[in-house]
Amino acid sequence: MSFTVPFSQPGLQHDPQWYRRAIFYEVMVGAFADSDSDGVGDFQGLIGKLDYLEWLGVDALWLPPFYASPLLDGGYDVADYRSVLPDYGTLDDFRELVTQAHQRNMRIVIDLVVNHTSDQHEWFQQSRTDPHGPYGDYYVWSDTDDLWPDIRIIFSDTEESNWAFDSERRQFYFHRFFSHQPDLNYGNPAVHQEIFDVARYWLDMGVDGFRLDAVPYLYESDEGLGESEPETHDFIRSLRAMMDTDYPGKVLIAEANQRPHEVAEYFGTTEAPECHMAFDFPVMPRVFYALRSQQVASLVDVLSETTEIPHGATWAVFLRNHDELTLEMVSDEERQALYGWYAYDPRMRINEGIRRRLATLLDNSRHELELAKALLLALPGAPFLYYGDEIAMGDNIWLNDRDASRTPMQWTPDRNAGFSTADPGKLYLPVVQSLGYHYSSVNVETALAQSRSFLHFVRQLIHVRRAHPVLGVGDFEMASTPNESVLAFVRTQSSEQCRPGESPQTMLCVFSFAHHPTTATITLGARHAGARLRDVFGGGSFPGVGENAQVTLTMGTQGFYWLAVE
Ligand code: NOJ
Repeated sequence: MSFTVPFSQPGLQHDPQWYRRAIFYEVMVGAFADSDSDGVGDFQGLIGKLDYLEWLGVDALWLPPFYASPLLDGGYDVADYRSVLPDYGTLDDFRELVTQAHQRNMRIVIDLVVNHTSDQHEWFQQSRTDPHGPYGDYYVWSDTDDLWPDIRIIFSDTEESNWAFDSERRQFYFHRFFSHQPDLNYGNPAVHQEIFDVARYWLDMGVDGFRLDAVPYLYESDEGLGESEPETHDFIRSLRAMMDTDYPGKVLIAEANQRPHEVAEYFGTTEAPECHMAFDFPVMPRVFYALRSQQVASLVDVLSETTEIPHGATWAVFLRNHDELTLEMVSDEERQALYGWYAYDPRMRINEGIRRRLATLLDNSRHELELAKALLLALPGAPFLYYGDEIAMGDNIWLNDRDASRTPMQWTPDRNAGFSTADPGKLYLPVVQSLGYHYSSVNVETALAQSRSFLHFVRQLIHVRRAHPVLGVGDFEMASTPNESVLAFVRTQSSEQCRPGESPQTMLCVFSFAHHPTTATITLGARHAGARLRDVFGGGSFPGVGENAQVTLTMGTQGFYWLAVE
């Protein structure tokens, strides 16, 4: 497979706000491509696929943890923050990945696991064996397990308590996730210093930013229930200040699975900024709700609520990632409905969520896949794609935990889907072979050969978005319609949001969640009265906006429009 890249740009382009226009792609190193036939993906394998990612139109890669780890939580159980898992290659391989990505003007964002370490980490081993030594206070120790009884348990399927007893130190330690992941003690300034040093270590190696894993849980108290405590925000502010001073242009992305008003707090304020980006956990499940209920009301509510964010900040929007589709932040009623629609088999559920991929969730409906992706790329924020979703890859619910949707990338119809030449039994996880999603038909090579494949559709969408920076940097304004299945909004780019040589753009985006054709009369802001509308994919003219600022559009089943307002 070879990929011709239309506008290859040598070297990283300077733009301190690069993340606002970027398309991000989450790729687990172990899952993408295996260069040395050991059955596990590696840095060299990923380097070999950069041409593909550049062809697709990706601007930045997000790499989940690749550090030394016992791998009991997909690498989020870090045993050493400064070394890489030998299966993935060497530090030099990682450096080469950064260099080669940068040569393509592609950035690399990595996970900074700030809340906890593996119990195999040297700090924890020292802490449990030498309570009065330098690491004695690095974790949250207690003589009893009854502190903060109301703090919720996140991994409710596996853990019964947030405390575990350590037989060596003969005390309990606090853990928000698995019991083998002790929480770091942020009450200890030495821990802050350690995390700063780790951040500097990777920034000096050239990475372009961090996803701050599990960032709401750094501090604990009875009143704050261990989530989004004020001191947690103080810590993020100090990390951001260090980065702004010493590493300008590098980004912080908050993984804060919180209620809408709380997520926005992770941006901080213009005067006291925290993260440049925050994952839009409130919007994501509501997209899935709208797809089945044919009702956009809750999506409209949440989008209207969360648009005010500080200058320079932006949302990280996503549909799926390496975790379950989390349903913690929707109402009980919505959660029950979502389980009914999307997780009818109990094996599909985990904790408070659903462990399936995008294509299987949407029953491989091409209409729904297109609608979901088109919405993702038009929502305010930068879209995060999950590896394999661009070819509508399936999952494997017979695997444990979230491994269901972490199976090897499917490149070809050949052995191991072209992911590895190892003995199939040696792969870190089996390739998907289920009905309708077998790698012999669902793979990059096959999708490339079919001009109407979902892969080609996704690529076109990405390239049209790249040609319309309004969808990255533009302001967001809801447009009203009485049709309860139709979501419409206008994105507007001001001249201050343009790069030299660009003209401001305005785009009307309309999405029908109705399961049948429908029409919608949409009311835009008064300033758009009399404007012309043009489809940005084919260039076709549409009925213009009336003098009353309204336009009536006919929509196909689960159809969408991106219309330039001229
Ligand atoms: C968030 C990560 O996305 C998830 O995969 C992990 O299990 C938890 N943090 C705990 O480390």
